[in-house]
Amino acid sequence: MEKVLLKNIENTNSADITEYQKIGGYASIAKALEKERKDIIEEVKKAGLRGRGGAGFPAAMKWTFASGDPKFPKYLVCNADEGEPGTFKDRPILEKNPHLLIEGMVISGYALNAEYGFIYLRGEYPDAKHILERAIAQAYDRNFLGDDIAGKGIVFHLSVHQGAGAYICGEETALIESLEGDRGQPRIKPPFPVNVGVWSKPTIVNNVETLSNLPYIIEIGGEAYSKIGSPECPGPKLYCVSGHIEKPGVYELPMGTSLREIIYTHCGGIKGGKQLKAVIPGGISTPVLPPDKIDCPMDFVNMPKHGSMLGSGAVIVMDETVCLVKVCYRALKFFEHESCGKCTPCREGTGWLRSILERIEHGEGQEGDIDLLLSVSSNILGKTFCPLGDGAASVVQNFIKHFRPEFEGHITAKTCAVEG
Ligand SMILES: Cc1cc2nc3c(=O)[nH]c(=O)nc-3n(C[C@H](O)[C@H](O)[C@H](O)COP(=O)(O)O)c2cc1C
Repeated sequence: MEKVLLKNIENTNSADITEYQKIGGYASIAKALEKERKDIIEEVKKAGLRGRGGAGFPAAMKWTFASGDPKFPKYLVCNADEGEPGTFKDRPILEKNPHLLIEGMVISGYALNAEYGFIYLRGEYPDAKHILERAIAQAYDRNFLGDDIAGKGIVFHLSVHQGAGAYICGEETALIESLEGDRGQPRIKPPFPVNVGVWSKPTIVNNVETLSNLPYIIEIGGEAYSKIGSPECPGPKLYCVSGHIEKPGVYELPMGTSLREIIYTHCGGIKGGKQLKAVIPGGISTPVLPPDKIDCPMDFVNMPKHGSMLGSGAVIVMDETVCLVKVCYRALKFFEHESCGKCTPCREGTGWLRSILERIEHGEGQEGDIDLLLSVSSNILGKTFCPLGDGAASVVQNFIKHFRPEFEGHITAKTCAVEG
């Protein structure tokens, strides 16, 4: 498959506007500005583009809600928070292909009639901030941003807002709170940001990878784009793979490539020829899978049928030397730390889960602890303000579902059979 999102990134100067234009960059803006706004949304609908931030929501549907709202101004926010553990797929776009994202945002801004855009950037990506700001300045210089884009009277301004390192600020309503200068905590939905977003105006929040698909959709047309990858969720997909594999990294492959192909064909298999023990397919919040489940196509529709989720496409591979009780405990330490504290089930529940897992991991587990974990997690699932609590609860439930004997072994033997 021809590279779309990671095109030209092996060029050491790929973040420079001249290099980007040499390979046809910014040509899609002129093409998009010839179309009516609604026709661009129609093209995105034909393309079947789904959001790449985790939930896979159809982009055109979200855009239609926002563009149908008469309130003005409207805002376009790029979610570049990339806080989900294991996820680093947006980073190569931000650092090596920033003009692709900018071009995508200009096209989206035009389609949505939004004159202001923000890139909400992960606090831990300081290099990306400088690279994006330089790229934005270059785009202003060449009239791809500003008050008269490409001489067509189209207005779109763009700036970078850097977060301060809170995972919850990746959740779109917490992100909006943070962008407005308030404490990053989720808002109750509805109303959804498409109607009541930044400064109570219609706001589209889309992931970096989602918006970066726009230039290509305009270039080849929605129909042709819809033929790439899975029929139900087409397009190229960035899979970022880490853990016990020979070749970790970010891979651009057709959406729906199987986990097996990603691990064994593209990443060179398990490091040192060891046995695969478990895979987290889409970032820490997505359900862990045992080795017999890796033939599933990695897309938003098929992963749930195989007991997991595509999430952010962050594949974490674990070999036979890994203690899964420890992994589960570490994950819950993370969720407890990152819970924003706004709602009780998440604030209290993640702490309880962590504390029970901590005693099991430290050889102090008690009879009944596994049932207690399942009971506490089921009191979090579906009862929290935002999906952070669901993620924490589902991690516990799925590790126990697939690897219960390992938890039982820790409790009865008071030690870890894998690590000793
Ligand atoms: C706790 C939490 C963290 C999230 N972090 C991110 C993130 O870092 N980047 C992202 O794009 N979406 C993240 N999301 C999803 C966003 O809320 C939102 O669905 C997404 O930005 C929409 O963009 P998309 O439609 O292009 O996927 C997170 C959601 C939750 C609940």
